[in-house]
Amino acid sequence: MSKILVTGGLGYIGSHTVVALQEAGFKVIIVDNLSNSSVKVLEGIVAITGETPAFENFDLRDKQNTTAFFKRHKDITGVIHFAASKAVGESVENPLLYYENNINTLIYLLQELSKKESSNIIFSSSCTVYGQADVMPITEEAPIKLAESPYGNTKQIGEAILKDTCKANQNFNAIALRYFNPIGAHRSAKIGELPIGVPQNLVPYITQTGAGEREQLSVFGDNYPTTDGTCVRDYIHVVDIANAHVIALQRLLNKKHKSNFEVFNLGTGTGSTVLEVIKSFERVSNQNLNYKIVDRREGDVISAFADTKKANTVLGWKAKSSLDDAMQSAWKWQQTIKSKL
Ligand code: NAD
Ligand code: UFG
Repeated sequence: MSKILVTGGLGYIGSHTVVALQEAGFKVIIVDNLSNSSVKVLEGIVAITGETPAFENFDLRDKQNTTAFFKRHKDITGVIHFAASKAVGESVENPLLYYENNINTLIYLLQELSKKESSNIIFSSSCTVYGQADVMPITEEAPIKLAESPYGNTKQIGEAILKDTCKANQNFNAIALRYFNPIGAHRSAKIGELPIGVPQNLVPYITQTGAGEREQLSVFGDNYPTTDGTCVRDYIHVVDIANAHVIALQRLLNKKHKSNFEVFNLGTGTGSTVLEVIKSFERVSNQNLNYKIVDRREGDVISAFADTKKANTVLGWKAKSSLDDAMQSAWKWQQTIKSKL
């Protein structure tokens, strides 16, 4: 049985991917420093899969510990690297934290993987690398724009580091997955997103407002050149994202990849406006949401949704859930979240 290292495996996307990996028969070892997650997430994973993944709590910025870890686990056949800091605003205020965490952890991992005869890694990238793309939907060939934030820059640099490493070493195989906007939770509501403090992202803000934890949602701008004036994004169920990781990993392990560095968009292919997301929430929760239109948020792109042809045809993966499915799962999770903390 293949043993897979999942860094950041107790985080939002990581935990859903651990579930999908275990359900697909992989043996998982998680490394997470709990900087943005809780050890209780393990209980949710076990409740869903009936299986306890191995877990080591350490910081991947610690090179010595990372080296010692790989010495202890020589049988790791693939790595899915989620561990990173991900708050755009915080990255503007504290860029060095972002460069240190998101770049050093990747370099240390790659240094360890280069010691192996052959290695496979999946990297969490983001549609943020496209900035405001000129053409919708966005294909993988769209130009990479100047990063809007240090966080976005770490994703561009991360992809470049992987590409160069793969070019220099043909035994190195990497896939960068560019997520659009992951939302929702596992249908069991045993794992989900745990935003710390005031949520910066739309969907957790909506569900917390629906649950009465926030008074009102602020909609950032309604004078954009879109159908209803609010920004457009490609909201994708986190379980669809998790499943794509399993397929991408199998592609590398089964040596089905065409090049040793590949990039895929992970989105639904459909753009939704902020007001459409609110309407979806109102449908699935059977209640009206308290919201008001405020000024635009600095740095927001007008529109971003994926061309998913490459992921559909080459990877053989397609998002299955609708926006309403994803909102329904987010709302169910919101209603049980307190008992999880
Ligand atoms: P998350 O914060 O929920 O998960 C990241 C996990 O990594 C956390 O559990 C955290 O404790 C851990 N971690 C962070 N730094 C670490 C370190 N130095 N050593 C060990 N563990 C560490 O984030 P997420 O939403 O699950 O995102 C996962 C990945 O996907 C990140 O790389 C993120 O940048 C990327 N991504 C996320 C989104 C999104 O909207 N959620 C969109 C695009 C890309
Ligand atoms: N929005 C609101 N009110 C809120 C929060 C968000 O109106 O309280 C709007 C935003 O203006 C935007 C849309 O909802 O139009 C989505 O905003 P999010 O913050 O949920 O998502 P973003 O597309 O801005 O950013 C997300 C991640 C980033 C990542 C980016 C691309 O937060 O980390 O997707 O992957 F870089």
